[in-house]
Amino acid sequence: MSISKGIERLSTGIRKFDELIEGGIPRGFFVSVVGEPGTGKTIFCIHYANQGIIDGDRVIYVTTEESRESIINQASQFNFDFEKAIQDKKMIIIDALMKEKLDEWSLFELTVEELVKKVIEAKKELGYGRTRLIVDSMSAFWLDKPAMARRMSYFVKRVLHKWDVTALLVSQYAVTSDLSYGFGLEHVADGIIRFKKVIMRGELRRFVLIEKMRQTNHDLRAHEIRILPGQGLVLVSPTEMRSQDLRMPPKVIKKMEEAKEKSRAQITDEPEWSSE
Ligand SMILES: Nc1ncnc2c1ncn2[C@@H]1O[C@H](COP(=O)(O)OP(=O)(O)OP(=O)(O)O)[C@@H](O)[C@H]1O
Ligand SMILES: [Mg+2]
Repeated sequence: MSISKGIERLSTGIRKFDELIEGGIPRGFFVSVVGEPGTGKTIFCIHYANQGIIDGDRVIYVTTEESRESIINQASQFNFDFEKAIQDKKMIIIDALMKEKLDEWSLFELTVEELVKKVIEAKKELGYGRTRLIVDSMSAFWLDKPAMARRMSYFVKRVLHKWDVTALLVSQYAVTSDLSYGFGLEHVADGIIRFKKVIMRGELRRFVLIEKMRQTNHDLRAHEIRILPGQGLVLVSPTEMRSQDLRMPPKVIKKMEEAKEKSRAQITDEPEWSSE
C-alpha cells in the first residue's frame, strides 16, 4: 500500500506496473481489465490477489472461466499459495463455472444479483477490513444479453462499493467479437487496463496499456510484458508502438459509442432489480 496525495493505493503485486499508476490502484476503485484471450488478464488478477494476501487484505476471487482448482494451480506455478490463504480464511474463491460439484462458494446462477449476494456473503465471512475483489470475468454474466452490460456493471458497482472493495473486473475482447461481449463495463469503470497481443515476425508478443485511471497521472505508453515460469507477469519495456496501434479498430469504437448512446436512457432509470 502507498499513500500519495492523500489517496490510499493498493499495490497490484507487480512493482513495475505500480510505478505506472503512482503506486497502485486507489482504494474503492472499480477497474476494468480487458483484452483478448491468452493475453495475461487472469495472471494479472492472480498477482493482485496474492498481493492482497501479503498486505493482509480480504480477497474474494470470482472465477467464471476456469474452476477454482485451475486458479489455485495457476497461482502455484508462480509460488503463490492460495490453498493456504483459503484455509487461513484470508481468501475465498467463488466458483461460478457451472459444474456438478457445487459447494458453499459456488455460484448457482450466472446473474449479477446472485453474484453480489455471494460476494457480500463472502465479505461477511472474511470480516471487516480492506477487501480486494476480482471477477474473472464479467462477460459471462451478459453473454446472451450484451446490451445489458453497462446496466449490470453499474448495478454491481453501486451495490458493492459500500463494502470496502477495490475491484478488478475482467472482460474479454476479441477483434471479431464486435458487440457480442458488451462494452458497458468500461463506461462505468474508474480505470481501464488493456491487454493486447500482437504477432511480430512470427512471434507472439503481449502488451499492457493503462487507458484510464481516475485521479492518477498514469503512464500513457504501451508496455511489453512477459509471462515467465516461476515468476508470472513481468513488464519488459515501454514500446515505440503508438497507442492507437493497440487500441480497438475504429469500427469497433464506433459501435461502442452507439451502444453507449443506446444504454444512456437505461442507466438514468433505476435498474428494476437493484433493490437490496
Ligand atoms: N507457468 C507459466 N509459464 C509461462 N507462461 C505461462 C505460464 N502459465 C501461463 N502462461 C501463459 O499465460 C497464458 C495465459 O494467460 P491468462 O490465463 O492470464 O490469459 P487471459 O487473458 O486470462 O485469457 P482468457 O481470456 O482466455 O481467460 C498462457 O496462454 C501462457 O502463454
Ligand atoms: Mg483468463
